Amino acid sequence: MNFPQDFTWGVATSSYQIEGGHDADGKGPSIWDAFSRIPGRIHAGDTGDVACDHFHRFREDVAMMARLGIPAYRFSISWPRLMPTGRVDDRGTINPEGIRFYDQLIDTLLEHGIEPWVTLYHWDLPLALQTERDGWLNPSIADDFTAYARLCFQSFGDRVKHWITFNEPWVVAILGYGQGVFAPGRTSTSEPYTAGHHILRSHAKAVRCYREEFAHHGGRIGITNNCDWREPLTGKPEDRAAAERALEFYLGWFADPVFKSGDYPPVMRERVGDRLPHFTEAERAELSGSSDFFGLNHYTTMFAAEASRDSGKQSVYGNGGISEDQDVDLSVDPSWPLTHFQWAVVPWGCRKLLRWIADRYGNPPLYITENGCALEDVVSPDGSVDDPDRIDFYQGYLAACHEALGDGVDLRGYFAWSLMDNMEWASGYKFRFGLVHIDRETLARTPKHSALWYGGVARHNALPGT
Ligand code: GAL
Repeated sequence: MNFPQDFTWGVATSSYQIEGGHDADGKGPSIWDAFSRIPGRIHAGDTGDVACDHFHRFREDVAMMARLGIPAYRFSISWPRLMPTGRVDDRGTINPEGIRFYDQLIDTLLEHGIEPWVTLYHWDLPLALQTERDGWLNPSIADDFTAYARLCFQSFGDRVKHWITFNEPWVVAILGYGQGVFAPGRTSTSEPYTAGHHILRSHAKAVRCYREEFAHHGGRIGITNNCDWREPLTGKPEDRAAAERALEFYLGWFADPVFKSGDYPPVMRERVGDRLPHFTEAERAELSGSSDFFGLNHYTTMFAAEASRDSGKQSVYGNGGISEDQDVDLSVDPSWPLTHFQWAVVPWGCRKLLRWIADRYGNPPLYITENGCALEDVVSPDGSVDDPDRIDFYQGYLAACHEALGDGVDLRGYFAWSLMDNMEWASGYKFRFGLVHIDRETLARTPKHSALWYGGVARHNALPGT
């Protein structure tokens, strides 16, 4: 199975999950630094203070990626490493050491022939913007985010040609402001919609800044959303409608305003009512078409059915919305294999979701910016990590991607989550998503068999044995 010649193959990480150096060289605290210190919030009291110590070991990590044959690397910039208070004003300044770190990382990647793909916001908001200004609930954050984005474009735009404004606004909104299981730990039924709204406004404003002020860099800029597939539980019209509604509440929420109408899906307006804010005409115009590509993080699939009154609705990971608003019952097929994270492995769901996106949004250039699995890896006595189930996972999902290409989907690239085992947010270090094993005592890096396999896929631009 060959992929198109210019297909992008990469691996992905994020700053808080791997960097460590939480207060090194002038970095300010982020909401995750604070959240991880609240007792009971993170599994086993883990923090990202050290994480994979990538801040000090990035040269080793880049050299390792090059040895594996990985052509592209998606990482995120830590806003409080560049701007310790999140703003430049009478108290806040730019941290030159932070700029220096990303300068060196980018230069090292380019020296090794690895293309940088940079996410501006992967959840580590400067703490001061939360405590002093209510984070994503404050409309003025769009100006703060744009100032930060401009600094990144100015500092790194000569070398970075692929930008992603936000990683998974849905997670920030639902897990951060609805369920409160992620920073900043808010629980509300209205704040997710407010936070999501200002994230979208911030995205559009930053994209406008890039297009107006940095067009000469010749790069591309977009947004990454997450979505699992929702398969109708039965062929009944109400279950089909429930599945469609679940996808609209999940992906449509953040993708319709950007790739379709400049506004939220009508079904959300109907069901969320006053809690769903309105865009001004100017904001709609700014949002519409504000992404050069469709970034997608995809992990799993669930069945969706019309909610029955007596069934308990899920309101934890994998739900896809505020359960009372979308009113959908979700379930999995017990025969589907589960990863250590309890996400079902269903490659055909990936193919169907790609098709759904192509149909709904006019077949935009699409990149899977994350896909991967957590498994209970075992280190052999000889130090190697044999992880055939991870290879099967990638084989299955990449075959599904290949089928989607055959369906006419304009899929341009794929990034495996993750380069290495890392700080899995509220789950701490419990789950291992990496292609590279990290020893939690010594932080030694050991490429798993899946890393060698994936490097081969990237080098040959093809799936082996197919
Ligand atoms: C995504 C997120 C990543 C990683 C992954 C696995 O939602 O962007 O940072 O945590 O899930 O859970």
